[in-house]
Amino acid sequence: MVVDGAERRAFAEELAVEAGELALSYQEQGDLDVRAKGVLDWVTEADLATERLIRRRIGDAFPQDRVLGEEESESVPQAGSGHATWVVDPIDGTTCFVSRLPSWCVSIACVDGGGRPFLGVIRDPGGAETFSALTGHGVTINGHDISVPNRGITDGLVGVGHPRNAPDEPTLRFLQRLFAVDGLFYNCGSASLALAYVAAGRLVGFFESDLRAWDALAGEVLIRESGGWSTRFMRDGSMTTSKPVLAANRGSATALWDMAREMFPGCAGPEQHSAE
Ligand code: IPD
Ligand code: CA
Ligand code: CA
Repeated sequence: MVVDGAERRAFAEELAVEAGELALSYQEQGDLDVRAKGVLDWVTEADLATERLIRRRIGDAFPQDRVLGEEESESVPQAGSGHATWVVDPIDGTTCFVSRLPSWCVSIACVDGGGRPFLGVIRDPGGAETFSALTGHGVTINGHDISVPNRGITDGLVGVGHPRNAPDEPTLRFLQRLFAVDGLFYNCGSASLALAYVAAGRLVGFFESDLRAWDALAGEVLIRESGGWSTRFMRDGSMTTSKPVLAANRGSATALWDMAREMFPGCAGPEQHSAE
């Protein structure tokens, strides 16, 4: 089945803005209905309402497509099933959202019927920015093309997220290696937004030891389209397993890969990327 990328990109950009406005209206109104899923892990009425909106809009526009979202489980689509699959996180950075911090976003990716992510749209409602990429068509921020200069590891900050329900050791080891080369880390509390910042050249890289597809896929498309490098989330053919993610500006990719490569067995590093 041929998937129309340009049509889906325009649709996703509009949808991400609408979804972001809905979520923001909940944050601004305050007094949220919040339920704990675990330690420092919440779901709010805003997450649920925003995912419902996204699912409804996709269902209306592309009834044949599948949807994998964080908040509503359903029978999970298999990669390569022949149908496009939307992978959505209605609010990435819920801890920040609940804490009334501005760093959270709506993350929307689309994976083609062969299991290849080809579209990534990340909307930061607080900053009023939409980061968007379609394979082969580069990256835009609010509709404007961007170009990203090469930045080395000490030319900026490296985003590092830490998953709540995974061992500390991989994060601590990565930080130790980063500090050993005078690098510094930044944690904005939203993996998707941090990945968008790498694509935009604002962070020189990003690492988190355990992420889900809805945290990672939109950012992966953005980074690859910006000329940067990222591990491939679909490397094991699965959209549903969690796994480590490393992404970098082209100028920092080899140095960051050297700090983390043992966490990515079988994964192509930046040296191989140019040949992919
Ligand atoms: C989380 C955020 C956070 C990351 C966690 C994610 P959520 O997503 O992306 O930055 O460190 O691993 O689970 O729960 O806010 O959608
Ligand atoms: Ca998330
Ligand atoms: Ca979420």
